Amino acid sequence: MVYITRRERFSAAHKLAKSEWSDEKNLEVFGKCSNPNWHGHNYILHVTVKGKPEPSTGFVVDLSALSDVIKEHIIQKVDHKNMNVDVDFMKGLMTSTENIAIAFWNQLVKPVAELGAELHSVKLQETENNYVEYFGE
Ligand code: NI
Repeated sequence: MVYITRRERFSAAHKLAKSEWSDEKNLEVFGKCSNPNWHGHNYILHVTVKGKPEPSTGFVVDLSALSDVIKEHIIQKVDHKNMNVDVDFMKGLMTSTENIAIAFWNQLVKPVAELGAELHSVKLQETENNYVEYFGE
């Protein structure tokens, strides 16, 4: 089994806060990501797929096709958007890095399978020092 990763980048706004809580309580629980007037991150997304190299090409997956899938199902929907209000598949969810990574997995698992590969992990980096990895369970 060979694992191959495509990196993509996007910028998006979000806020972590509960509307029923005060700004002070949200700040206490969610830190700077609770800022009432939103803020943004430059996210880095790593999508890893796995499979056996196809004998005639030597490829597990066509990386440009994988990039197209990630762009169609994720990047076009989140880049320069507000993830709390603009993104259909994030509706009703807290926009934590954890939840975003799970939602991205759910967006990608079927179209990646249609490329003939298996989705292995979604790694989402929100800041230089924090990232989340999701393996589908
Ligand atoms: Ni934030």
